[in-house]
Amino acid sequence: MITLGIETSCDETALCLLETRNSNPNDVLFTEYRILGNIVNSQINLHREFGGVFPMLAKREHIKNLPILYTKLLENSSISENNIDQIAVTNGPGLEPALWTGIVFAKELSQRLGIKILPVNHMEGHIVSTLIDEVEISKDFRELRKIQLPAIALLISGGHTEIVKVNNLGKYEILGNTVDDAVGEAFDKVARMLNLPYPGGPEISKYAEKARNENLENKIKLPRPMIHSKDLKLSFSGLKTAVLYTLKSFIDGGGIINENLIKEISREFENSVTEVLVSKVTRAINENETNTLIIGGGVIANKYMRKAFQDLSENKSIPLLLPPHSLTGDNANMIALVGVLNTKNSLEGHVEARGNLSLND
Ligand code: KG4
Ligand code: ZN
Repeated sequence: MITLGIETSCDETALCLLETRNSNPNDVLFTEYRILGNIVNSQINLHREFGGVFPMLAKREHIKNLPILYTKLLENSSISENNIDQIAVTNGPGLEPALWTGIVFAKELSQRLGIKILPVNHMEGHIVSTLIDEVEISKDFRELRKIQLPAIALLISGGHTEIVKVNNLGKYEILGNTVDDAVGEAFDKVARMLNLPYPGGPEISKYAEKARNENLENKIKLPRPMIHSKDLKLSFSGLKTAVLYTLKSFIDGGGIINENLIKEISREFENSVTEVLVSKVTRAINENETNTLIIGGGVIANKYMRKAFQDLSENKSIPLLLPPHSLTGDNANMIALVGVLNTKNSLEGHVEARGNLSLND
């Protein structure tokens, strides 16, 4: 079975060809896979001057790039399009104009080739991205990583921050959510305050690491929002404002934003976010039967956070699934895999863009 995956929910145009076979017809998790082709075209450089993703620009770029990348994908993988069995496409959540470009492209292709099209929830993609452990194009089939259910998943990206109970594939319960900004969004906004380029996550983490390596004195203290609230709600907008006030009082006191200040703030910000996330996930684990811990989404590219969750997993003796570094950000492999696993969220039917699609739907 060959699945074409298409992802256009934000600022990455991503396509892949995923070949799968099943070694146990009674259990879809016994899927074996090999990646025949994989392309991620990032628009980051174009959006950088806007300090974030500009939806209409994203739409224009996706429309321009999809046919070019599709041809390249077929060429690179030496697959004839007639061998594609099905198409999995992200239909939400995300920027609706951007989502539609992938869906329209998928619909035209599905009509021309006479194959089915499966809508995929992008956040479910981030969950299953942790089942893939190899993104290199290879001849050999590999097994999916094993997952013991129920699992607790923390999803942290530029648009979302949610703690999800995974009862089964396609059967999710959102236990907690951010009440304001997403974690990635907070990284991006704080980076902007520090005059660092978009996307801010990798920048902040780079400066935070320098502060730790150089053992810089810890003079800045930021809050740990909602860390003591007895629920799984999260909030990052106050933390962002606290950074703003810290900077303001520093400048008012005659200081300048120099590299050491950027390092210190970056480290304290990363510490705060990590402590809050680890604390909330610990609460979720304590309150729910958890046989696997899953962390997905662009922010888990963060090395410091990966280590913090590895420590938590060891302390709690709960196996941890993290995506390989190349699948932390948006990609089409995770979308194709959701289609293959054929969960409730990816059944054939009417496909339309749903910007606010939720895992609870
Ligand atoms: O999942 P993703 O690629 O796109 C969305 O679905 O939103 O996540 C993008 C987010 C951005 O906010 C980016 O700043 C953040 O992930 N990010 C990071 C790191 N790398 C990317 N945040 C913290 N540390 C990183 N190393
Ligand atoms: Zn994403």
